[in-house]
Amino acid sequence: MDQAERLRDLVKEKLNISKTPPKHNVDIYSIASGKGGVGKTNIVINLAIALQQRGKKVLIIDADLGLANVDVILGLLPKYTLYDVLVRGRPLEEAILTGPHGIKILPGGSGVMELANLDMDQHKSLAEDFLAFKDIDIILIDTGAGISKNLLSFITFSHELIMVTNPEPTAITDAYSVIKVLAQFKLERNIKLIVNRSSSQESAKATFEKLNKTSDNFLQVKLEDFGYILDDTKVAQAVMAQEPFYLLYPNSNASKCIDQLADKLIGAREKSRRLTSIKDVYKRLLKVFG
Ligand SMILES: Nc1ncnc2c1ncn2[C@@H]1O[C@H](COP(=O)(O)OP(=O)(O)OP(=O)(O)O)[C@@H](O)[C@H]1O
Ligand SMILES: [Mg+2]
Repeated sequence: MDQAERLRDLVKEKLNISKTPPKHNVDIYSIASGKGGVGKTNIVINLAIALQQRGKKVLIIDADLGLANVDVILGLLPKYTLYDVLVRGRPLEEAILTGPHGIKILPGGSGVMELANLDMDQHKSLAEDFLAFKDIDIILIDTGAGISKNLLSFITFSHELIMVTNPEPTAITDAYSVIKVLAQFKLERNIKLIVNRSSSQESAKATFEKLNKTSDNFLQVKLEDFGYILDDTKVAQAVMAQEPFYLLYPNSNASKCIDQLADKLIGAREKSRRLTSIKDVYKRLLKVFG
C-alpha cells in the first residue's frame, strides 16, 4: 500500500464514507464578503435570473444561516426552509421554491440560532445533497458576511468562490481578512472578485488592484478580476418593491452590469470543466473541522 492510499483509508475511516461518490454535474459558486451589506444577496438573485434567461438551470441556496433573506427580496413566503431540512429531517425537495423565470430557491430560515453553527455531519450530508442535484446547472450560495465555520464548509464543496466588496476601505480591509483566513485553511482556490457600487469601471479596477496587490504581497493569493456593478439608485428602489432590479429595471446600469457578469460566468464555465469529487470535499471539511 502506498502512502497516498493509506491516507485515503485514514480519511475514509475518519469520515465513515459508505456511499459511492455522486457524479458531479453541477457547478457550485459560493458568494461571500468581509463586511455585511455590500450587495451579495442582490448579486446572487439578479445574476441567477440572468443566467436562467441564458438557458441555465439555476438554484440559489440561502446560506446566510440565521439571517437569511433571499425570500424577502423576492417577496416569497417559504413553507419550509433549510432549517426544516437539517434539523427536522424534511426532504430537501420540499423546501425548494420556484422564483422568477423558474429559478429555484432553497430558503435559509431566519432567526434560528442552531443554523449558525452546523456540525460536520450536517455539512457532510449537505455536500452530498448539493453535489448530487439533478436538473440544475449552477448553484449560487449566498453566504453570510465575514468568517464562520459555515462559510468555510460551504466553500469546501464549492467549485468557485466569488468575493464581493464595495470601494470603501473598510469593506476592502474586511475582504482581505476573509481571504487571509481562507489562505490559512488552504481553501483559497481561484477567488473571483466583484466590486459592487463602484462609480465607474476605472474606479472598480482601482479597487480590484488595491485588494489584489495586498493579497498577493502578503498572502501570495492572486485574485481574479471578475467585474463590477455600478452604484445605481434603482437597486434600492427594487429592494423596496421586493422585486429583482434585473426584472423591474432591465435597462438600468446595474442590470447591464449583471448581463456582463452572467456572460462572463458562462464563458468561464464552458472553458473549464472542473471535477470536484466528494472525497476532495471530505478532505477539505477535515481541514475545517479536523
Ligand atoms: N449596485 C448597487 N447600487 C446601489 N445600491 C446598492 C447596490 N447594491 C446593493 N445596494 C444597496 O445595498 C443594500 C444591501 O444589499 P444586499 O442585501 O444585497 O447586501 P448583502 O451583502 O447581502 O448584505 P448582508 O451582509 O446583510 O447579507 C441594498 O438593499 C441596496 O440598498
Ligand atoms: Mg445578504
